[in-house]
Amino acid sequence: MRHKIDEISLQIDNLNPKSIKELEDLRIKYLSKKGEISALFDEFRGVPAEQKKEIGQALNELRQKATDKINSLRNNLSSVQSTKEESLDLTRTSSPTSLGARHPLSIVKNEIIDIFSRIGFTVADGPEIEDDWHVFSALNFPPEHPARDMQDTFFITKSPDILLRTHTSSVQTRVMKSQKPPIRVLCPGRVYRNEAISSRAHCFFHQVEGLYIDKKVSFADLKQALLYFAKEVFGEKTKIRLRPSYFPFTEPSAEMDISCNICGGKGCSLCKNTGWVEILGCGMVDPNVLEACGIDSNEYSGYAFGMGVERIANLKFQVKDLRLFSENDIRFLEQFV
Ligand code: DAH
Repeated sequence: MRHKIDEISLQIDNLNPKSIKELEDLRIKYLSKKGEISALFDEFRGVPAEQKKEIGQALNELRQKATDKINSLRNNLSSVQSTKEESLDLTRTSSPTSLGARHPLSIVKNEIIDIFSRIGFTVADGPEIEDDWHVFSALNFPPEHPARDMQDTFFITKSPDILLRTHTSSVQTRVMKSQKPPIRVLCPGRVYRNEAISSRAHCFFHQVEGLYIDKKVSFADLKQALLYFAKEVFGEKTKIRLRPSYFPFTEPSAEMDISCNICGGKGCSLCKNTGWVEILGCGMVDPNVLEACGIDSNEYSGYAFGMGVERIANLKFQVKDLRLFSENDIRFLEQFV
């Protein structure tokens, strides 16, 4: 008996099957109910009592060894087999490449550009680092005028002349200086203000400015363009209202509200139960601004408007915290396609 155990143990050590099928045959040969090791257990009944302990232990060890060996051979064979299959399967499709999504602010900016381009607006660009003249002076902010305090400015150098633009209205100035009317441009871009960062304010954000200059442009033209825009972005049922306001560069000036797109005007937390939410500032370009940019204010008139892209995005997507737009958290960004 002892001799047989040793002999099978040696065979187990030398097992070398070439395939899963061969391995299965070996498992049956040694470990199945009618296998060689099971047969030894049958024989074990006839072993004299004084040898039972020793032989019993040796038999158990043999069965464990055979089981372990067969399992480990199976693992090796199946991994070899599967890599072989993989490398041979030339028809297999490649793993999908995950595509990025557009940033929500780009989606909204592009939508605004798309809507206005359908009524003849083209896009103009200007620098983010600007001088005082383009951001303030040409736009009728006199020196020391309290209106300059409306926008907390970041200055770049010790000179108070170089600053980060606080609004995209500075691009209006550049376009009016360099082009002859009729002018019909949109100026999208990033703007900066010295504000404490919170869920509702940031030190940089994005605006889209609109400017239309031609002969006999009226406030009615402005209102019609903005009504068209509001319906395109927020739906056909959207209503607008214009409230008198003040901007140094427009006269008259107004702020535009839309009927709340969440509650449809009935009143909710977003519109603070008023049924209206503010979305932009606008007005007729002040003659002083036209003149400062070399356009004859007796011959031409124009309208302008400016809106915050984050504001429109908040209303469209109900993003509660402005900081999400600049944190680059993929879990937030991948929701917008
Ligand atoms: N520049 C203004 C701001 O940053 C927005 C604005 C208001 C732009 C009225 C305009 C306008 O062109 O006519 O708050």
